[in-house]
Amino acid sequence: MSLYQATASAPVNIACIKYWGKRDTKLILPTNSSLSVTLDQDHLRSTTTSRADPSFTKDRLWLNGKEDEIKDGGRLATCIAEMKRMRKELEDKSPNEPKLSSYNVHICSHNNFPTAAGLASSASGFAALVKSLATLYALPASPSELSLIARQGSGSACRSLMGGFVAWEQGTSPNGSDSLAIQVAPREHWEDIHALICVVSDDKKGTSSTSGMQRTVETSPLIQHRIRNVVPQRMRDISEAIQKKDFDTFARITMQDSNQFHAVCLDTDPPIFYMNDVSRTIIALVVEYNRVSVEAGGKLKAAYTFDAGPNAVIYAPKENIREIVEMIVNYFPQADPFKDPFGLFGTTGVQGG
Ligand code: PMV
Repeated sequence: MSLYQATASAPVNIACIKYWGKRDTKLILPTNSSLSVTLDQDHLRSTTTSRADPSFTKDRLWLNGKEDEIKDGGRLATCIAEMKRMRKELEDKSPNEPKLSSYNVHICSHNNFPTAAGLASSASGFAALVKSLATLYALPASPSELSLIARQGSGSACRSLMGGFVAWEQGTSPNGSDSLAIQVAPREHWEDIHALICVVSDDKKGTSSTSGMQRTVETSPLIQHRIRNVVPQRMRDISEAIQKKDFDTFARITMQDSNQFHAVCLDTDPPIFYMNDVSRTIIALVVEYNRVSVEAGGKLKAAYTFDAGPNAVIYAPKENIREIVEMIVNYFPQADPFKDPFGLFGTTGVQGG
């Protein structure tokens, strides 16, 4: 008897232009386009194995060794159903293919980093899930096509299906058919950029991105200004900066966009605070580090960005990473960057295409 099983893994991505706000909560269609860098180190990945078997009585999922309920109509169920639908289309075209779309699946997923700590575990998780099912089902789908499905698991997951610099285009179609990820540039285009992950806290976040986004869209006047007047231009400018390998512009936009994302959180009623005092100290250090460089006639040397949690990601040319680590360790002497990447600081490059 054949064994129908496949394993795939996907890395975390960290946005430079933040996705925050849905125009359709079921299909997960965003209120603005976003752009991220897919990280490539082994310690920030989700790995997922899927198996289809006629003896399975229902679809089941284990996350980090613990079974998670697949709720009817929920995001997991939607992703699995969409993948089965694509498999069914393939079976209808090729009648000799085994009828895997009619079997239930067992899915086992593992993150090698803290779940829900502002390190985008849902992004790598849903991307790995969709990839493993696409492999199991031998689907001839491109990463952009698969991104349409991963998006319905967790919006930011659509960007983890590709390496390097990735845009999620918000699209205009009401059915979401053009709300997908595209690669702006592969990792090899700009290998010099590295990311330094500063794990300030690995606690679970207080306000989930889903409820935070909803509250922001419902109550913040500032987010309307961001959607209409700010993000479209930033998407064009940062894409151009990536093409030109212009770190100064890339860094400026990345920091401005992180600041505006946290400003719309503060503008939400009641307000949402994702950063803490350590986060703000890291901002002050990066600002000072850049100020000294610019005042000496140089350019920006580092860019901070923060997602829905207190952890910092610092993008910088590789040659600056050691200096930045030393600067941060000087202020937080308990940090031990090279022995224990999750005790505090792990450096990582960006993911290959
Ligand atoms: O995909 P979600 O629901 O986990 O939302 C992610 C939101 C941010 O990480 C804050 C921004 C982004 O673009 O990744």
